[in-house]
Amino acid sequence: MEKILVIDDNKLIRKTLKETLVKVGYTIIEAEDGLEGLKLVRSEYPDLVITDFQMPGMNGLEVLAEIRKLNLSLPVILLTAFGDVVLTIKSIQLGAFDFLEKPIDPLLLKSTISNALNSIKVSNSLNEVLHEDVSSESMLEDNILVGKTPLMKEIFKNIGRISLNKVNVLIQGETGTGKELIARLVHYAGITSNQPLVIVNCSALTETLLESELFGHVKGSFTGSIRDKKGKFELAGEGSIFLDEISEISLNTQVKLLRVIQELEFEKVGGEEVIPMKARIIAATNRNLETLIKEGKFREDLYYRLKVFTIDLPPLRERKEDIRDLIIHFLHKLNKRFNKNVVKIGDGVIEMLQAHDWFGNVRELENTILQAIVMSKSDVLEKENITLNTRQQQPIQVKQEQLPRFRSLADLEKYHIKRILDEVKWNKLEASHILEITRPTLNAKIEKYNLVR
Ligand SMILES: Nc1ncnc2c1ncn2[C@@H]1O[C@H](COP(=O)(O)OP(=O)(O)OP(=O)(O)O)[C@@H](O)[C@H]1O
Ligand SMILES: [Mg+2]
Repeated sequence: MEKILVIDDNKLIRKTLKETLVKVGYTIIEAEDGLEGLKLVRSEYPDLVITDFQMPGMNGLEVLAEIRKLNLSLPVILLTAFGDVVLTIKSIQLGAFDFLEKPIDPLLLKSTISNALNSIKVSNSLNEVLHEDVSSESMLEDNILVGKTPLMKEIFKNIGRISLNKVNVLIQGETGTGKELIARLVHYAGITSNQPLVIVNCSALTETLLESELFGHVKGSFTGSIRDKKGKFELAGEGSIFLDEISEISLNTQVKLLRVIQELEFEKVGGEEVIPMKARIIAATNRNLETLIKEGKFREDLYYRLKVFTIDLPPLRERKEDIRDLIIHFLHKLNKRFNKNVVKIGDGVIEMLQAHDWFGNVRELENTILQAIVMSKSDVLEKENITLNTRQQQPIQVKQEQLPRFRSLADLEKYHIKRILDEVKWNKLEASHILEITRPTLNAKIEKYNLVR
């Protein structure tokens, strides 16, 4: 039967715990302080530890930290006299399995213990996945790209090819497919790696601000421009400028951008001096530019200038073979960030994640893993800690008479956005999919219309 170590300075509590647990069939060993407890951890190999928080000498958190140094997977349950959020968070961060408040509820105690022991059993039956060599093309620590499906391999090869020439690159792909990551690789993998990479999110700024951001401005060229400012094209020098969400720039700015690309020079807003343009342009979009061209929202000539070379990133649901490697990659990355040790994958988890549609693509997968890691109480990535977004499938039906009277197009837009947001419980990722706009655009509209939950 499993052996449980109880560490508590209060003799009466040790006695009560022992009586309760022996009845269920556990073997109990006792210690009256942290040091003695740690000794028993080393000599008696308990299967689980229950420790009080407040004790003379070492407190429960210190005991927990020491146990973690000795044994990464021994479950520890902390007892505390009061519900303290900070303490709870801290102990979970340090790797406590759970937390029980005094007075101890025997039923809760028993179920917590059996959950903890069970999680160890599940864990022991699985192999560690993290030592497995995931095929990744690593250029920089932070820019690890996972993917071994033929489509992704072809993309890596192409990055190799174009990184030695300074051709403009257009990266197309749904939201979260890794466009920015690819842009970084294109920049850092080749001849531009020692030059600056400058990132501009074209959807985050108004037309005037975007122009001054891109080209810079001279003092006094518009209200608020109190001194000369260099633009991103100038700052990029001979490196790369990444124009993210390129579809969102206005037709006016498109004309100016086209001129820069054709003539390889530009002027600051309000300025006369001609500045040469030597940077490579990497543009990204999650909207179909050809459709936008047909709708008259994007200039065809600019499109052809940008897409000297195009990289089309496949949505995650078309490369489900990569999901396993991505999970392992994110476990690596996120364990480090959150000081966790989730190194195993529970039965059926991969299948479950492969069956999902991932409309938010790799980013959604990363967020899902993140959430599961944060929630996990053991070293196993478990089904029950995984929450998947389900997209609203049925069309939203609104009866005519329910619609308020609108005056302007803006009224209608405001109403529609609010309705969709409410519909998806303010999950902005989902709302932006349904509305077919980018998230920054959605955020801008929420702000513009003062929408609140
Ligand atoms: N192949 C991959 N391997 C490892 N991590 C990836 C991969 N693709 C994407 N990611 C990760 O997924 C997240 C989203 O990627 P990224 O920001 O590049 O997407 P995006 O296409 O620019 O999205 P959006 O259109 O919403 O701006 C990032 O944390 C990125 O590191
Ligand atoms: Mg992006």
